[in-house]
Parts: sequence; structure tokens; C-alpha cells
Amino acid sequence: MDKLCSVPKTITDGKTNVTICDAKRSQLIPVLRKIQEKEGYISNRKMQEVAFSLGIHPVEVYSVVTFYSFLTIEKKGKHIIRISNCITADMAGAKKIIKTFEKELGIKLGETTKDKKISLEETSCIGMCDQSPAALIDGKLVGKLTPQKVKNIVKELKK
Ligand code: FES
Repeated sequence: MDKLCSVPKTITDGKTNVTICDAKRSQLIPVLRKIQEKEGYISNRKMQEVAFSLGIHPVEVYSVVTFYSFLTIEKKGKHIIRISNCITADMAGAKKIIKTFEKELGIKLGETTKDKKISLEETSCIGMCDQSPAALIDGKLVGKLTPQKVKNIVKELKK
């Protein structure tokens, strides 16, 4: 076990003992974010490599990847639209905004356009209640969305 490991722990399946390091485990999300950033998604193979290098079970890696909406196991579009689905956004008309995005993009929430250019998703709190309905578009916050703003955004992203 390397020097970084201040909390080594041995686990066993009855036959084999494996020593894991909780200090290394804290690297899981930063490592996954780097892979997501570079490759656009996290493949099964990458999840296994990460699990092996951190000394944790691949199921743990999979559960983290599928828990966080910003990490994905499938390739998304070049542009990702994430609409806040918090209660304030809902009250401010997020459903109408979603419908407009769906109509302009020709896809449903959770889908990616056929040309793999744009993905449309929902996300939980993005800290923009006061600007609802709001979205993250390629990681940039856009607030006070209106159907006209949505049309302009889609037009720009399609270029
Ligand atoms: S609760 Fe509305 S954006 Fe956070």
C-alpha cells in the first residue's frame, strides 16, 4: 500500500484478501470528471480501469457514475442542455420551456438529436431559483428562459 494511504482496509470474499485505500477512494469523482470531460462519457472499460487503479469494486464506480447526472455511461451530444427541474422552475413555467426545446430540437427530454449534436436533459438544483426557469447550456448558466430565448439558443447550437 502506498504512502498516500492513511486508512488502509482489507476486504475479503473468503478466498482472496484485497487491501483498499480510503484516501485513494476520494479521488473517484475527480478522476471520473476528467474522463467525462475528455471522452464525453464513461465507458464500461474506463469504469473497470478506474476501479482497478483505486482498489475498489467496479459496481461502486458504476453506482457513482449513474447517481450523478453530470456523469454519463453513454455518449451525449456535442452540446448538452440541462433544464432545472426544481419546484421554483416548475412554478415559473419550466414545463413550457421543456416543450419548446423538445419542439425546436425534434426530440424528447432525455434524448439526443440524430446528428449527435444536442442532448436535452433535466437536472436538479443549479442554484438559479431567482432566474427560473433556468438551464445549464454546455455548463453555462442561462436564466429567465422564454420560448423565444429557447428558439434563439437552439438556432445558435444548431450552427
Ligand atoms: S432549488 Fe431552484 S435552482 Fe436550486
